Amino acid sequence: MTCVEPTNVISIADLGCTTGPNTIIVMQTITEAIENQYYKTVQKLSAQQIPEFQVIFNDQVSNDFNTLFKRLPPNRNYFASGVPGSFHGRLFPKKTLHFVHSASTLHWLSRVPKEITDRSSSAFNKGRIHYINAPKEVQDAYAAQYRTDFENFLHARAQELVSNGLMALQIATVPDVILESDIHPARVYELLGSTLMEMTKEGRVSEEKVDSFNVPLFYSPAKNLKEILEKNESFSVEQMETLKVEEFYEAPNASNFVSMLRAFLGDLIEQHFGGGIVDELFDRFTHKVVEFPDIMNPKKLKLVMLFVIKCNN
Ligand SMILES: C[S@@+](CC[C@H](N)C(=O)[O-])C[C@H]1O[C@@H](n2cnc3c(N)ncnc32)[C@H](O)[C@@H]1O
Repeated sequence: MTCVEPTNVISIADLGCTTGPNTIIVMQTITEAIENQYYKTVQKLSAQQIPEFQVIFNDQVSNDFNTLFKRLPPNRNYFASGVPGSFHGRLFPKKTLHFVHSASTLHWLSRVPKEITDRSSSAFNKGRIHYINAPKEVQDAYAAQYRTDFENFLHARAQELVSNGLMALQIATVPDVILESDIHPARVYELLGSTLMEMTKEGRVSEEKVDSFNVPLFYSPAKNLKEILEKNESFSVEQMETLKVEEFYEAPNASNFVSMLRAFLGDLIEQHFGGGIVDELFDRFTHKVVEFPDIMNPKKLKLVMLFVIKCNN
C-alpha cells in the first residue's frame, strides 16, 4: 500500500491577511469561484475529482491569528491553517500553492533603507519620517528598497507556486505623474513628522529619535511595478486594472482618520519612542488634521491596481 494517493487539493494562500473580515470574505469568494468553475467544466464529478480547499492565512508573527481563527465561519468550505512570517522570503514548500492573493500589503517595506538613518550618507533623512518632499537621495533609497522587496517576493512565490499557478495582487500605487497641487497619499506622514519635530522643539522628544525614525511604506508609480513584473521571467501578467475603491475617508472625520492611522503605526511609534508620547503625539496630530483636512483625501492619487499574474516555472 502506498501513502501517496492522488488528491484534488487546491491550496490558496492569503498573504498579509491581518485579522479579518476582508480576508474571510475574499477566501470565500475565491473558493466559490473555483468550485463553480469546476462544476461548469465537468458535469459529473467523481468522488476523487471533487476539489478540497486548503486556505492558508499568512501574516507577520505579531499578527493576532487567534482573533482571525475565531472569526472564521464554522460552515466554511475549506480547511484553514496559519503560517506566520514575512512574505518577502519563502513561507511554503516548493510547488505547493495553486493560488496566491494579497491585498494592501506590498507597499510595506521589509525594512527602512539603511542609508536614510546613516548620518554620514547623503541619503540621511534629517528632520523627516518619510520620503515626501525629502531630497532625491532619500526618495531613491526608498524606491530601491521597494524594488528589492518586490523582486524577493516574486522570487519566493515563483518557487512555491505550481506551474500555471495564479497570483492576484492588489497594490496601492500612485499615478506616474504627480503635480505640486496634488495631495500625495504619503503627505500624511509629512504632517506626522512635522508634529514630531514640533515636539522636539519643546523638548518632548529628542531630535536624534526623530532622525532615526522612518515609516517603512512606499507607494510606487504603477508603471514601475509593471516594469518589474514584465522583466521577471517566472511570471506573465494576465490582467492589470485600476480598481474603483470606496475610500473610508470619503466623508472626512479627523478623529476616525487618526484612529485608523494609529491602528497600524501606533506600535511602531511606541517601539521607537516609548509609550510615553504616543497619546500626546496623536492628540496633537488630530489638531493638525483638522487644520489641514485635505490630507484625508488623497483618494484621486492613491490608485489600487490589481495584477493577475501567472507562474511560468
Ligand atoms: C493594510 S493590512 C491589509 C490586510 C488585508 N490584506 C486586507 O486587505 O484587509 C496590511 C497587512 O499586511 C501585513 N504585512 C505587512 N508586511 C508583511 C510581510 N512582510 N509579511 C507578511 N505580512 C505583512 C501587515 O502585518 C498587515 O496585517
